[in-house]
Amino acid sequence: MRASSGRLSLCSFGYVIAGGACSTWRAPNMHAHSGEACAITERLCILVIAIAHWCGSLLNQGRTKVMRTQVAIIGGGPSGLLLSQLLHKQGIDTYVIERRTKAHVLSRIRAGVLENGLLGLLKEAGVDRRMRAEGIPHHGTLISYENMMFRIDFTKLTGTSVMVYGQTELTRDLYEAREAAGGAIAFEAEDVVICDADTDTPYVEYCQNGARTRIDCDFVAGCDGFHGVSRKTIPTDVRHEFEKVYPFGWLGVLSETPPVSEEIIYASSERGFALCSMRNSMLSRYYIQCSAAEDPAQWSDDAFWRELRKRLPQEQSAALVTGPSIEKSIAPLRSFVTEPMRWGRLFLCGDAAHIVPPTGAKGLNTAASDVHYLYSGLRDWYADKDATGIDNYSQRALARVWKAERFSWWFTSLMHRFPQQSAFDRRMQRAEIEFLATNEAAQMALAENYVGLPY
Ligand code: FAD
Ligand code: PHB
Repeated sequence: MRASSGRLSLCSFGYVIAGGACSTWRAPNMHAHSGEACAITERLCILVIAIAHWCGSLLNQGRTKVMRTQVAIIGGGPSGLLLSQLLHKQGIDTYVIERRTKAHVLSRIRAGVLENGLLGLLKEAGVDRRMRAEGIPHHGTLISYENMMFRIDFTKLTGTSVMVYGQTELTRDLYEAREAAGGAIAFEAEDVVICDADTDTPYVEYCQNGARTRIDCDFVAGCDGFHGVSRKTIPTDVRHEFEKVYPFGWLGVLSETPPVSEEIIYASSERGFALCSMRNSMLSRYYIQCSAAEDPAQWSDDAFWRELRKRLPQEQSAALVTGPSIEKSIAPLRSFVTEPMRWGRLFLCGDAAHIVPPTGAKGLNTAASDVHYLYSGLRDWYADKDATGIDNYSQRALARVWKAERFSWWFTSLMHRFPQQSAFDRRMQRAEIEFLATNEAAQMALAENYVGLPY
């Protein structure tokens, strides 16, 4: 990482003149004005803002710190940190820019199920020690419909299994590894902008404690999740988005109680879907389908446990150990893909490019396969100046993304109650679940997708 100071940043200036979005000094929306007077006012307005901004840039000249890295990574979630650590192992320098504090990132309770592909990447990144010691291998999963329940045996059907290990713990391990290696991570970075991504000299700017920093780099990895800036940096005429929003969400509860079952239960009931998962032998994670508009604060712990009990088969319902919740939140359910996942030297990775509903546990795992493709492409580029991997990145990543989207959409559609569902639709769900209960080919298809398709 090289640092210098006093270089003039023209990124925002150029975009204000052009009326683009790469600036926090955005020109007001003039489209509502009409007539000659308005047109003159509009031009004057743009000129005044441009001059003011240029003067601001000149004044700021001494204050903008300029750094250099090879790969600037926006987002310090699991995708960004894993990519950073893998590149570090190859001697490639990165700079991670995260909007929130580390404590905030680590407070988000999310994924719990890791595919083998992700385990392999953690090993390659040298961050698998705690996961191997504390993670719980799962060789199958349970599916229930009202009172009947059956098991999908991953190991028998696919020869492999999955690992239950919380995203929070994985992120903690990655932070520790990055910090131990002296990796650059800027927290609480505001106003992050990606500039000149369609040239060979991209750079990223952000504000921290009122001071502006500019990171010159070879590539930008957009690992900043669904609400980040990276995807929106790609012009709308280049970007194609595909979306399905489900008419419900998941209300999740974490509690220091023993899990109701040794394996995860996906439960379909007349009252809606429920999921029983875990983090360890004294930490359970449960979800119930609810309205996406609901406020988690309106759900008392008692109401949550009562509702969960009603959605499980009698045996599990009776065995459920309840206790105070230590976290309670609602996640909306969405399927989303943006294409392409590359624009010039900007590469989208993970939730920045795609979202799946959590039924089937594919979100983090699909983010990890993106990291795999991007990491190997960048490694080949730096080692041999071979651009094949980065040139094929979007196509290779998307081919796997769409398969994960299909599986998550199918599993969500099979297991949830939908508002407009007819009695016939419900019978179709039941027939498909009963088919799955007894048909090995159907079980094989579920198991292969659940443990993870090959990279
Ligand atoms: P994120 O985790 O969203 O990280 C993005 C980071 O970028 C964040 O730290 C954010 O603060 C930062 N950021 C955002 N904007 C900016 C900006 N402008 N500048 C700088 N930084 C920015 N997946 C599974 O595989 N298995 C599961 O079992 C599973 N269960 C889930 C359960 C729930 C309830 C939910 C909500 C999700 C679940 N997922 C699961 C999905 C999984 O959590 C996500 O796919 C995963 O977090 C994606 O990682 P990411 O690093 O791409 O994005
Ligand atoms: C979780 O443990 O949080 C979890 C497990 C399986 C899923 C989704 C979430 O499909």
